Amino acid sequence: MNVLSIVSEVFPLIKTGGLADVAGALPKALRPLGIDVLTLVPGYPQVLDRLPDRVEIGCLEGLLGHRAVVSRATTEGLDLLALEIPELYQRTGGPYLDGAGYDHPDNWLRFAALSLAGARIALGHLPLGSADIVHVHDWQTSLVPVYLRYRFQSSLPVVCTVHNLAFQGQFSIDIAPRLELPDAALGMDCLEYYGGIGYLKGGLVCSDIVTTVSPTYAREVLSTELGMGLDGVLQTRRAALYGIVNGIDADIWNPATDPLIPRPYDVRSLARRQENRAAVLQHFGLPDANGPLFAALTRLTWQKGADMFAEVAEEIVQHGGQLVVCGQGDAAIEAALRDCAWRYPDRVSVHIGYSEELAHLIVSGCDVLMQPSRFEPCGLTQLYAMRYGAIPLVGRTGGLSETIIDANEAAMARAVATGFQFHPVDPHSFREAVRRACEAFEDREAWSSLQRQAMKADFSWERSASQYAQLFEALQTAWQATAE
Ligand code: ADP
Ligand code: GLC
Repeated sequence: MNVLSIVSEVFPLIKTGGLADVAGALPKALRPLGIDVLTLVPGYPQVLDRLPDRVEIGCLEGLLGHRAVVSRATTEGLDLLALEIPELYQRTGGPYLDGAGYDHPDNWLRFAALSLAGARIALGHLPLGSADIVHVHDWQTSLVPVYLRYRFQSSLPVVCTVHNLAFQGQFSIDIAPRLELPDAALGMDCLEYYGGIGYLKGGLVCSDIVTTVSPTYAREVLSTELGMGLDGVLQTRRAALYGIVNGIDADIWNPATDPLIPRPYDVRSLARRQENRAAVLQHFGLPDANGPLFAALTRLTWQKGADMFAEVAEEIVQHGGQLVVCGQGDAAIEAALRDCAWRYPDRVSVHIGYSEELAHLIVSGCDVLMQPSRFEPCGLTQLYAMRYGAIPLVGRTGGLSETIIDANEAAMARAVATGFQFHPVDPHSFREAVRRACEAFEDREAWSSLQRQAMKADFSWERSASQYAQLFEALQTAWQATAE
């Protein structure tokens, strides 16, 4: 079966978060199941630089006033198509933001053009044959099923995966005439959203199947609290809504073979982590206080609860612990963290920025990885942490609630615990959980058993990939039946 995955970021070419990790890992996990995934990404400079051997396979004219060269390349087990429209994608900054941190003003056009190109490639407008299934991700590619249905009258099956409902691709109604869609697509039953245009809404309405990245989040998005205004639309798609938990790329995130950490180790040689722990402290310029080393590795946003780090740092310090933070995001959170590091120079240190190398080093050496998210569709960092024997301390929400087993007395006694959860997600419960972790850390024997348990948790892609495969196969069968 041939799947065309259309996505705005893919690891290792370009990444701003977990979406890239998933888009990069899922195709590799699907291949042994007989599913070939071809991934279409915009030709950002970061993408083209990494694909010097790409081969041009054709041109697409008439993409909302633009012309694209499409080239193909394989790298790190991925079969890729780059959509080259230099005036839309060859920019400084990231995929969504310019160098100063503002949205590219024409994001509506950049991702509509990507979606229109994706729809045409799926239909066979290039010499690649047509796709059996189209897989789109988040608002950036949610117009694909809208173009398929309304512009090409095609019922080619589409799976739309929602990685984060908080990002919806909402734009002014003024763009409507420029999307080159018939009026029927622009109305309330499809793209119209509170007087504007909502790309994700269109994807949710027009896709055959909607998935989210954990079963818990699939339930949560139906509620007013976490539905982000789209719960009503999702209610109407209830029968087609599935939650499939993300996996991790077990080759890239493997403490036994990781080239980015000073001392590889596995569950039988946990003592070697000490060397990595020392390297983390050294990197952050901290002396060893011999208490638990807490870490955060995250976008510094309200979603991630990062505004609470500075507040709970005090609790960590009082219990003899230390805190390192690697992240970037809201200016106010960054400032509060810098201030906190200034107040506790030997105990707290912050790296404002994004660093893949540091991410690996941190999970290989810290004792506790904090993720106090207010909502979390799945979350990958806690999965990486577990694999590396760093104990996750997480808010009980979304994917965090189902991937971590809280270290309460019963779970500890039965040696099944893998981390610490707290609820409600507020500074008070967060502090309580920090206290619990500090106390648990004092019993080194019990702590090691917690680490071993976390390392044994299996979040490889195998199981989840087969769930995607089942959905794809069921859709294909249904589609073939209607086509006959
Ligand atoms: P989200 O996609 O919502 O940010 P996830 O937990 O799914 O959350 O994925 C986050 C990904 O981004 C992980 O691979 C994590 O290691 C990575 N990451 C987050 N912040 C940083 C950072 N400052 N430096 C390097 N990697 C980071
Ligand atoms: C989003 C979510 C995160 C999820 C990731 C990959 O960025 O915020 O929870 O793990 O997508 O699906």
